[in-house]
Order: sequence, then structure tokens, then C-alpha cells
Amino acid sequence: MPILMMDMLKQDSILPGISNQTGLIGLTIISLVFGLWHLSTATDIPHIKGIFEIPSSLPITGHLLALGPDHASVCEKWWRQYNRSIFQIKLGNTRAVVVNSFEDCKRMLIGNQSAVIDRPTLYTFHGIISSTQGFTIGSSPWDESCKNKRKASGQALGRAKIRDYFDMFDLESYCIARDLALDSCNGQKEIMIRPYIQRYALNTTLTLCYGIRMDSVYDSMLREILEVGSAISLLRSASENFQDYIPIMRYFPNNEKNRRSKELRDRRDAYLNSLLNQVREMIRKETDKPCISAAILKDQETKLSGVEVSSICLSLVSGGFETIPGTLTSCIGSLATPEGQVWQEKAYEDIKRMYPDVRDAWRNSFQGEEVPYVNAIIKEAARYYTVSAMSLPRKTVTDVHWDGAVIPAKTMILINAQAANHDVDHFGPSASTFNPERWLDSDGTLSPATEKIPTGLQHFSFGAGSRACSGQIIATRLLYTALIRLLTSYRIVASEEMPPNTDYVDYNQFKSALVAIPVDFKVRLVPREGVEGLGEKGTVEGMLGECLEDARGRTEGYYRVDEGVKV
Ligand code: HEM
Repeated sequence: MPILMMDMLKQDSILPGISNQTGLIGLTIISLVFGLWHLSTATDIPHIKGIFEIPSSLPITGHLLALGPDHASVCEKWWRQYNRSIFQIKLGNTRAVVVNSFEDCKRMLIGNQSAVIDRPTLYTFHGIISSTQGFTIGSSPWDESCKNKRKASGQALGRAKIRDYFDMFDLESYCIARDLALDSCNGQKEIMIRPYIQRYALNTTLTLCYGIRMDSVYDSMLREILEVGSAISLLRSASENFQDYIPIMRYFPNNEKNRRSKELRDRRDAYLNSLLNQVREMIRKETDKPCISAAILKDQETKLSGVEVSSICLSLVSGGFETIPGTLTSCIGSLATPEGQVWQEKAYEDIKRMYPDVRDAWRNSFQGEEVPYVNAIIKEAARYYTVSAMSLPRKTVTDVHWDGAVIPAKTMILINAQAANHDVDHFGPSASTFNPERWLDSDGTLSPATEKIPTGLQHFSFGAGSRACSGQIIATRLLYTALIRLLTSYRIVASEEMPPNTDYVDYNQFKSALVAIPVDFKVRLVPREGVEGLGEKGTVEGMLGECLEDARGRTEGYYRVDEGVKV
């Protein structure tokens, strides 16, 4: 080749008016530019014919910059702007198909269940953070191990098992009411609710996995798990993690993302190992509580490897600790507003209709979801505050045929759950307002509230189809129990100095995180009838005092708070 070039240079000019040397340099530059252009715009999956592509993609970054931190809202805007509910975008070198409308999300997730059963793997989350404990179920590609893990978690979290968790629902929801009463001086001080709900969610899954719980809302281990978990959730998001889609960035010197990922991985390993060692110790002393890891450590379950057990526990702990507080805290924010006072009153009346004695409402709160108005509030909170706005990404395992186009295997599929949950074509013109009564046939004004008979999928907050949320039954019961107990104890009123943000986008303070974290707000808890306030020794009196005392006696021996677990 070099000899050929030398020969060319020696020949007379091939292009009139341009020397061969200049021509060759020009040709080299053009090839280089073409090569660089090709390299910087190429994607794992080539352009998909028949699926609209959002214009103005840039070389190297694709649409990443245009998407900004809030992918769900930008994609929702693009859907309306270009009038295409399904379109393709480029996340750096990765092509993704985004689905927005309610009907299209349903068609993609339910109509193509087995084709979209896979999940993509990402460099930072899968390659660095998950290198020691294995992938969580929600981030595992679909293979034999994922199938086993999903089956095991499905069994542990299924409807048949829920009875086994009554004690823990009772205890943990009692602790919320107990500590809110004490820390707010039974309503005299305004208070932030989220920390109490974080402990509720985390303790539930820790109990389930390890038989361990923490009593203090500000326990150091509890705060460490929440802090590390939230930081890791940030490292899973595309907008925070360009290196997943622009591979050259991984080799930048002093790579801060890699350093941070390793640090978080080590911190997570420390508390997970500490929890597992604690279970081993309890087994040795024969003081262990029935839980997933003890069952497997004692070899009652056979098919799962050690890494799979860690992965299941990690999945359950990380599945609930942000989603439940995100949903319940924002729900309380909406109920605390002036309009929300009406919904609270109707819910309270509906609870009293079912349980004229509030103590019965407390005792039954974890056994079933009997109060229609409260069920409606829960559905609306899950829909309106879509805490996992872009759901969890999927990947096709086989071709998906879509209106004449073929989405090939191995394509990333992004479900815009926030857009689907606020689709006016499905939910009507009031889709962007919080209104629990959309789920009711009768709103409780003239006759008792009655729930609409569910016809198919209600919303996308738990995903749908083959990889839908494994924890939705438990999650719904947790929301229900906590709401029944809170609504019968207090009327919840928004603080004037620190009111809640109830916009379905702006309520979230970290738009780039995988799961929303509501902006902090405070509420005033106005004791309900028969709740007289704090007694001389700081004990709560009246009906709430009775409910608390009843729950304390019942839950006393349920689970031990182990002082030994420290990181
Ligand atoms: C309000 C609470 C919750 C919300 C909004 C929520 C939401 C979600 C979403 C959107 C997905 C992805 C679904 C899909 O791809 O179609 C998911 C998956 C998952 N969730 Fe939840 N979740 C919640 C609570 C929980 C709880 C309490 C647990 C466990 C105790 C849990 C365990 C899981 C697991 C294991 C997966 C992965 C399923 C798979 O990939 O096969 N979730 N969740």
C-alpha cells in the first residue's frame, strides 16, 4: 500500500489543478472525518426502520444532553411535540426505544411479555458496583439464575405468604405512630414524616431477609443503608452516568465515577456481610427468626447459591426502601393540602363505617385491604407520584413486530411510566391532578364509597408483564396499614412554612435518580377525637394512647432489636 501511494505521488497529477500530494492529504482527511463521524454516531443497534427517531442527535452523546436530568418529562414532551408515542433515541452508543402512551406501554409489556423479559447490563452498575454481591433481580438479565431468584422472591412475597408478615406490619406501623406522637409532642410540633416511613420500609425488608430490625429512626446502620442505597440508585441513572453510554469516558484519568462506585460497593458489602454474619451468629445461638437468609443458611432451600441468596436479599432491601417512602410521603403531602382535608375526612368516615371502634381499625389494618376510600387513595398515590418514572429498563430477547417495523433482539426498551400514568387519552382531562375519587364509583358523599371493579391494568407504577414488581402485594399492604393508622390518629395539615410540593414532576428533588426522593416538607398532626394529648410522663392518652398500648403489648416479643449490628 505505501509503495502504491509513493507511485501515485510520482505520477502526473490525477485531479486537474491539484497536486497528487494535496489530493492524497485531502482524501486522508475526508476518510478520517468520515471514519470519526461513523465512530461517533454508530450505535449498538442500527437505526430501526419504521420507528420515528427524535431529530438533532449529536455525535458521541446522541440525545443524552437533550434529555437532561429528567428523562421522563422530556420524553413525555417529545411524545406530544412529534405526536409519536413510541420513538427511538440514542443514549451515546446505545439505541433505545421509548414507549409513552398507556395503550402502547400495555401493548409492549403485556402483548410482548416474553420478548421484553430481559434487562440491559450497564458498565458502572453491573461491572463495578455489582461485582461482589451479584445483580439484584431488577437488574439481572434473563437467565437461569434470574429465573430462580425471581421464583424464590415471588414465593416469599406472594399473596399466600402475606399472613406470615402480619406481626412485622403490626410492629413497624405501630412504631411510626408511636414515634410520630412522641417526636411531634402529640401534634404540638410540626414534623417531617419521611424518616419514619424510611425506617418502616427498610425494617420490613430487613426483617423479611435477615430477621433483624432497627428501632431508632436515626440508627447509624439504618442511615448508612439508606445513604449508600440512594447513592447507588443515582449511579444507575443514564443522566448521571455518561460513561455507560460513552465508553471512552471510562478510561479518563482519575475517574471519579469508578472511584465512587468502588467506595459505595465496599460500604454496601460491609453492611450486607455484617447482616449476614449476624444471622449466622443468631443461628449459632438458636435465637434466629424465620427469614429468607436463615432458611437458606440452614439449607432449607436448596437450589440457590450464596451469591444468589445475597442478591435476593439485596433486591428486596433495595426494592422497597425508596419506593415506599417516595409513594407514601408524597401521598401524605397531597392529603395534607387544603383540598386533601376533604379526602382525609371521607377516608376517616369510611374507616369508621367499616370499624366503628378505632381500635378494631388498628387491629385489622394489616389483615386485609377493606376500606374502599383508603384503597382509592393508595392507587391514586401510586399513579400520580410515579416514583420510578422511567420504570426499570428492559431489553428485547427476540424481534418485536410493531406496526410494520421490526425492533430487533437486544434493543433497550424504556417504558415512560410517568407519561403513561398521566395519559389524558386513558385517564381523561384530569390525568394531571391528584384525585383518589377517580378510582371510585361512589365517592362516599351520599352513599358509602365503592371501588370501581378493576378492568385490566390500572397504572404502570409497578411495571407490568413478565418482569413486573415482585413486591407489589407487600408494598400495597404496607401503604394501607400505615395510612389506616395515621388517618385514624391524626388529621394531617401541611406546614405553612414548609409545605409539600404536590406537582407530579417537581415533588421530586433528584430528577436524575432512578427512584424519586420527595422535596422535604413538614406537617402538623392534629389529634383526632378522643386523642387528648401527651400525659405527664410523655405517654399518649385517649383513644390513640389505647391503640398504641394495645399494639405495644401485642408486638412486644415479635422481633428483637439487635444492638450487635454495626458497621
Ligand atoms: C411503592 C412501592 C414500589 C414500587 C413503586 C415499585 C416499582 C417497581 C418497578 C417499576 C419495577 C420494574 C417493573 C418492570 O420492569 O415492569 C419493580 C421491580 C421490582 N420490585 Fe418493586 N416497587 C415497589 C416496592 C417493592 C418492594 C417492597 C419490593 C420487595 C420487597 C420490590 C421488589 C421488586 C423486585 C424484586 C423487582 C424486580 C422484578 C424483576 O426484574 O423481575 N418492590 N418495582
